[in-house]
Amino acid sequence: MSASFDLVVRNARIATASDTFHADIGVKGGVITQLGIGLPRGESEIDARGRVVTPCGVDGHCHLDQVIPPPVRMADDFLSGTRSAACGGTTTIIPFAAQQKGESLRSAVNEYHRRAEGRASIDYGFHLIVTDPAPDVVNRELPQLIAEGYTSFKIYMTYDDLRLNDRQMLEVMAAARKHGAMTLVHAENADCIEWLTESLLNAGLTAPRYHATSRPMLVEREATHRAISFAELVDVPIVIVHVSGREAVEQIQWARNRGINIFAETCPQYLFLCAEDLGIDDDYHGAKCVCSPPPRDPANQKVIWRGLADGTFTILSSDHAPFSFDDPHGKQPNGEQPAFPYIPNGIPGLETRMPLLYTEGVLAGRISLNRFVELTSTNPAKLYGLHPKKGTIAIGADADLVIWDEAERVLTNDMLHHAVDYTPYEGRRLRAWPGMTLSRGEVVWDGATFSATAGRGQFLRRGLPSIRQ
Ligand code: URP
Ligand code: ZN
Ligand code: ZN
Repeated sequence: MSASFDLVVRNARIATASDTFHADIGVKGGVITQLGIGLPRGESEIDARGRVVTPCGVDGHCHLDQVIPPPVRMADDFLSGTRSAACGGTTTIIPFAAQQKGESLRSAVNEYHRRAEGRASIDYGFHLIVTDPAPDVVNRELPQLIAEGYTSFKIYMTYDDLRLNDRQMLEVMAAARKHGAMTLVHAENADCIEWLTESLLNAGLTAPRYHATSRPMLVEREATHRAISFAELVDVPIVIVHVSGREAVEQIQWARNRGINIFAETCPQYLFLCAEDLGIDDDYHGAKCVCSPPPRDPANQKVIWRGLADGTFTILSSDHAPFSFDDPHGKQPNGEQPAFPYIPNGIPGLETRMPLLYTEGVLAGRISLNRFVELTSTNPAKLYGLHPKKGTIAIGADADLVIWDEAERVLTNDMLHHAVDYTPYEGRRLRAWPGMTLSRGEVVWDGATFSATAGRGQFLRRGLPSIRQ
């Protein structure tokens, strides 16, 4: 007689977004089919030995192999990026299919499928990046793609090659409303940044730390307010992504007090890095922490922590944007040290997102284990139309499970599995790391070895959001 389960994970301390309880987890065909005490034997067995088991991370914001004007190139493609995610406890990612201006959305989507196929080792969907909302794009392509499972798109208020004007933002948000999709907004005021950047460069101030001076909190606050106002006008929910500090948080809270349905994302860089990490003098190593919006100061970090605890933030994503430091395609190309506006924006973080938040959030007593699950897994799955297949431990859900090892270790880049030559968190003390990661019931990381085959990752056709603020 064949076993009832392909796999039983025994003696687990299961944490979901709402509950913590002891049980065995029965898995068949990659799906959780039973939860209970004393389940019958499976074909294979894993003893969790009472350790915490959470649903794997769902990273709702990361960039892999994104098309960028040369010589800049992302260090991680779908092979190294998904490997790194799995070793850090994340088995679902939603990177971006970015439209180039003048290009059709369909051709962008086809191109990113080509980049992911045969290389991704964990499951993935795509957000669209809409840079050219021509009538055919908004009226024909977007509705078709939403119906095919690309149910969210990002729009930018900054970066010359990506930004939309106010009218274009309204057109895209109106399409999202009509078809039930979710709009993610990068909220920074482009003209303010350009004006500040020019005056800094004219004064000869070119070091990485001036990246933060050129993008003060005010430019994020203004753009956040404008995006919220557009969402109110169109009457559609939006996500404000990578919120970095108090003034943007105040805008989000103001909007919610008015009954506007705004979701908010923050990222580890706004909890663990600050403007000083961009260099206190003209040290070029600060380029490693150049990302947008920039990390702020300790007072703003506190506000972000409070927002994680009090429900202001819906999700915590990595915004993994991987550029090596000492690399012809990276931040210090061929030993050259470009002025701050020309340093590729973004930092790596797919693998460290979950262990950092578990250590400094859960084990340091700032957030509960259940809130950790909600922020890193359940809410991104709900927001981006993947729940309950992803983001929970329940009968019928994919068996995407992390068994946590609560042991102290010092983080170094050579422990990580990305293709980036640094981590901004080098030397940090971590008190937790995935001891095992399972993706659809398959062990892809056992705490020492990554074992998934390239191409086993499945494309996820996503549904509509199933969450209200
Ligand atoms: O600096 C960042 N965040 N780079 C990635 C692109 C983006 O805007 O998210
Ligand atoms: Zn952004
Ligand atoms: Zn991003």
